[in-house]
Amino acid sequence: MASSPQADETGFQLKGSAPERYEEYSAPIMAPFVEALLDAVDLCPGHQILDLAAGTGFVARAAAARVGPTGHVAAADFSEAMLKVAAAKAPRMYPDIEFTVAPADRLPHPDGSFDAVLCQQGVQFFPDLGAALTEASRVLRPGGRFAATAWAARDRSPYFAVQSPVVAEYGGAAAEAYFASAFSCPAERLTAALTEAGFREVVSHEATFGITLPPLTDFVRGHLTAVPWGQAIEDAGGPDRLA
Ligand SMILES: C[S@@+](CC[C@H](N)C(=O)[O-])C[C@H]1O[C@@H](n2cnc3c(N)ncnc32)[C@H](O)[C@@H]1O
Repeated sequence: MASSPQADETGFQLKGSAPERYEEYSAPIMAPFVEALLDAVDLCPGHQILDLAAGTGFVARAAAARVGPTGHVAAADFSEAMLKVAAAKAPRMYPDIEFTVAPADRLPHPDGSFDAVLCQQGVQFFPDLGAALTEASRVLRPGGRFAATAWAARDRSPYFAVQSPVVAEYGGAAAEAYFASAFSCPAERLTAALTEAGFREVVSHEATFGITLPPLTDFVRGHLTAVPWGQAIEDAGGPDRLA
């Protein structure tokens, strides 16, 4: 795994073994959005793809399955711990996925390397969204495509809406700030930033999916241990408060 010594320390940061739990507990929530993201750029066999802010690799793995052995998938994230889980989860049958520890606004990839840059639930955490999108544009070939997913307002999701008052009550301002940041890049902000970064034919689509989660008593607790706002609740009052 290649790494950059200048990785940015802000944004969605998980401690300890949380990246493993992120992979487990985020999977059912992310799954339908992964497919929508891949469909948005019409991935074909042979394409060269970058999964930006790849985390534990949901998008990279699905992209690798679609581009096939003649394609190539690179995955970049500033968290080495997230990419370690991603590397461990990458099945051998896929084309090799190249993992690189790097902040979104300082990628090591050469100009014009990719047919598409994909970013699932990452843009809202970039400290300089404009710089990250300019960097995405640099690594795209002429005519290449960028697609991202980011949550709409939290009151649009029953799962997140019900957590809102609880996160603030039990985790205080720090937890609330982390939680709010997950919803800080609505479509209008992202499309404006893409246009500002020089992208053309910028469109947004609203994607709504019904997701059946495992029994919530265990699931919510596990999921909260794998997101920064849940970690902030635990920091504020230990595992009992999180429970
Ligand atoms: C909510 S997770 C999404 C991960 C993955 N894309 C997925 O589909 O599950 C946000 C990811 O963004 C990464 N991240 C946040 N800020 C970043 C930055 N400035 N540069 C690179 N990665 C960043 C975090 O390390 C984390 O893996």
